[in-house]
Amino acid sequence: MSSLTDNRSSSVRGYSEVAGNQPLIANNINKNSNNLDEISDLCYVDVKSDNPYDLFKEWHKEACVYSTGLPHALCLSTVSKDMKVSSRHVVLRRIEEDGFCIYTDNRSRKTKELTEVPEAAMCFLWAYINDKGQKVARQVRIEGEVVVMDKDAYADLYDKDKLFCKIRAYICHQDKEVDWNELKAKHDQLLEDVRQNKVNLPMPDHLYVSNATTTTSLYHTNESHLFFSLCSIGYKMLPKAIEFYYARDTLIGDRILFEKSEDSNQWSWKRIAA
Ligand SMILES: Cc1cc2nc3c(=O)[nH]c(=O)nc-3n(C[C@H](O)[C@H](O)[C@H](O)COP(=O)(O)O)c2cc1C
Repeated sequence: MSSLTDNRSSSVRGYSEVAGNQPLIANNINKNSNNLDEISDLCYVDVKSDNPYDLFKEWHKEACVYSTGLPHALCLSTVSKDMKVSSRHVVLRRIEEDGFCIYTDNRSRKTKELTEVPEAAMCFLWAYINDKGQKVARQVRIEGEVVVMDKDAYADLYDKDKLFCKIRAYICHQDKEVDWNELKAKHDQLLEDVRQNKVNLPMPDHLYVSNATTTTSLYHTNESHLFFSLCSIGYKMLPKAIEFYYARDTLIGDRILFEKSEDSNQWSWKRIAA
């Protein structure tokens, strides 16, 4: 049994004591008795709109200001047709009126699973200290159907990507076993080509035939985009439910669950216990 399991099975411990007695997270569970100096109260989420996207944007914006983590990152869970669940982080690329957009390699496990079962769950965690010195913890869980986006609808996202992401799109076949040295050689060759202006990865109209034999075919006219199009896939999550959780310091969390009515497509919300 692992020490993490030991840790969780003990009713008097928090999550802080792990292998080697190295604390991972401050233990806020009082082992002895009630400490009357501790503050206890309830958090409150002020819901100003019936549209959950408004609250999402408000929280996301705040996380972008204070979080030193990755406020655009979300944990995406998918399920295969034989009911095996898998999770991984991806980047939220865009919020549209009706959904949350991501993109990935269409040869990946998540794509296989989303093809089999086009339903998923997204989970954001934003934890930071705000300008009042408050330790804020916010979570947003989103569940719903996932649809494939038109290529044109997300091609601009690729153009906005950083160079290393574009290079990755060319050289990485996601999830495939790889020889690191071969990959490094491909990377360095492509980077060199980009630096010498032999290829311009974001410009689909750029005509270029590389000298590099391994990657030659990718750089012909329009083929950079073609290659990207062939290997990438954009998804939009169309939420049926969005749940917001807010806790801070030693206050008890507050939760708001938004649900979309199947008949009217209208959102309604309720407060639920933490
Ligand atoms: C912070 C973070 C952001 C990531 N963003 C993406 C992304 O936007 N798209 C993507 O395909 N993989 C992204 N990855 C890699 C995925 O977590 C995962 O390793 C990869 O997509 C393969 O997942 P799969 O085999 O389950 O499909 C990211 C990883 C991290 C840690």
